[in-house]
Formats: sequence, C-alpha cells, structure tokens
Amino acid sequence: MVTAKIAPSLLSGDFAHLAEECERMLDLGADYLHMDVMDGHFVPNLTLGAPIIKSLRAHTKGFLDCHLMVSKPEQWVDDFASAGADLFCFHYEATEDPTALIEMIRAKGMKVGIAIKPNTPADVVYKFAPALDQVLVMTVEPGFGGQSFMPECMDKVRDLRSRFPELDIEVDGGLAPENIEIAAKAGANVIVAGSSIFNASSPESVISLFRKTIQN
Ligand code: DX5
Ligand code: ZN
Repeated sequence: MVTAKIAPSLLSGDFAHLAEECERMLDLGADYLHMDVMDGHFVPNLTLGAPIIKSLRAHTKGFLDCHLMVSKPEQWVDDFASAGADLFCFHYEATEDPTALIEMIRAKGMKVGIAIKPNTPADVVYKFAPALDQVLVMTVEPGFGGQSFMPECMDKVRDLRSRFPELDIEVDGGLAPENIEIAAKAGANVIVAGSSIFNASSPESVISLFRKTIQN
C-alpha cells in the first residue's frame, strides 16, 4: 500500500523567506518540500538551483523533493547531491540515457524520480519503474505555477497504478480541492500543489483534505 504524501511547491512561496516557508508548510502537515528547478531552456522560466538547496538544507530537515525542469540533468547530479537534495527527479524528455542517469543519482545517495510531460506517454517509464522511487506525471505543461489541471493526464496515472501498485506516483500542476478526488481515484499518492495551498485562507485545511482524499 502506498501512502499519501503532500508536497507543497515552494514556487508559490515567498522566495525572500524560503526557509520560513518550508518550516511553515511542514508545521501545517506537509510531507515533502517540492522544489521546482527551471533553467530557462527546457522550460521558459528561471527559478533556483543547487546553491539555494544547499542554503535551505542548513535550515530544514524536510524532505527536499527536487523537480529538475532542465536540459541535460546529468550535469547537476553532483551539485544537488552535495547540496543535500533528498530526491532528484529528472524529465524523461531531457536526457538521452535515463538508465545511466538513474545509476548516477543512486550512486550519490539520492532517491530518484522520472517526470513526464503531458504529451509524453506513460509507457516510456515502464522499463525504468522498478528502479525508481517515484514517477511524476505532469498535469500541466511544466514552466509555471497557477495553470489549470489537465484531467486527461489521469489515464496515464491509472495505467501506471495498475502496473506498479507500490510505486509512488506524483502529480504536479493545478491540483486543488476541486480535482483532488479525480487524482486520488486514478491512483496518485504524492500530491504537489503550489497556488491552491499557498493562496488558501487555510493552507492546513487544504493539506489535510488532500491527505484524507488520497487515503480514502
Ligand atoms: C510547474 C511546476 C509545479 C507548479 C505547481 O512547472 O512543476 O510544481 O509550481 O504549481 P500549481 O499547483 O500552482 O500548479
Ligand atoms: Zn514541480
């Protein structure tokens, strides 16, 4: 049985107070801290890199779930490992050799995930799944917070859940109280959410609703 893990995306937090934002989310019940790394090349936006992860690591014991939306992710494995990242999730579309990359990440002691964009079919990850801690099924085009959830991506979640009952399946993009049930029914158990948590009048209630819905 997989368990629910709620992963607020710090992209929607206050970057000038990132450490406090991380602690606030953990205090409100978050399981993971989702860190969106963008390089302005794989996606048309720039966010943060290993130096910020390193600084944060000194201030939080939280699980740093790093989502690398970058071209050539292999070039950042050493830096993220030294910085203290807990999980290194790269995009299938960004590398030519996922097997070698998975081995590099493991050798550095991090957990490993593969992310797929909305137009990438689920079958590309089948052969890697047994070697992964997590598969991330994007539910928006990567690059920005605040976009609308794409329910059509749930077919991929259903497919992966039926094949890999024990795999952590993460969904990311537009998750909110209005669609959490759809994601839960499809079989997602790791829920990333930026705007719906950070913009809520009670982020704690949103986190707890997500958890209850997944666990039901
Ligand atoms: C999008 C990022 C997401 C995003 C989620 O490229 O990977 O993690 O910040 O934000 P919301 O929940 O606002 O869609
Ligand atoms: Zn993300």
